[in-house]
Amino acid sequence: MTISFTVNGIPHDVPDGRGTDTLLDFLHDDLNLTGTKLCCGIGVCRACTVAVSKGPTDAPAPVISCSTPLRLLGNSHIRTVESLAEGDRLSPVQQAFLDHFSFQCGYCAPGFVMAATIFLEGLAKNPIDRADLDAAIEGALGEHICRCTGYVRYYEAVRHLALQLVGLKWGSVR
Ligand code: FES
Ligand code: FES
Repeated sequence: MTISFTVNGIPHDVPDGRGTDTLLDFLHDDLNLTGTKLCCGIGVCRACTVAVSKGPTDAPAPVISCSTPLRLLGNSHIRTVESLAEGDRLSPVQQAFLDHFSFQCGYCAPGFVMAATIFLEGLAKNPIDRADLDAAIEGALGEHICRCTGYVRYYEAVRHLALQLVGLKWGSVR
């Protein structure tokens, strides 16, 4: 028996016996996808966040790869930070974090990038009132830890993108 899933669109099958391996170890050791970072390793900091959906068109959810065993990922579609840029062209979130000087050492950045990408994709499909945007950003990013304390500029970048790139309901703006 095998556990089957895709990573950045490429199918993978791993034997059941590896079901307790973490997704992060699989990404690093089997696929050499090292953009997803190991920081705390115990599910607290979210530096290791990737996007996981159950169907190719289903809304993705953020998943903490350091603490997620492969056995929970059967039939999942996993996206890592490596999937976002197209050649030399960064994704809108990556570019916005650069433009806003959001990170310093950058170790937490892949997790913030993935969480912000998932958040903005969701916002594009399910707009919210503009007045609720700051709370929604806090909900999406609030559990990510940045040891260099770059939170404000991460939030500013996501707010800027949300206002520029995705539809928001404007009715309740005061
Ligand atoms: S490295 Fe996974 S939550 Fe910190
Ligand atoms: S930029 Fe260094 S941990 Fe966030």
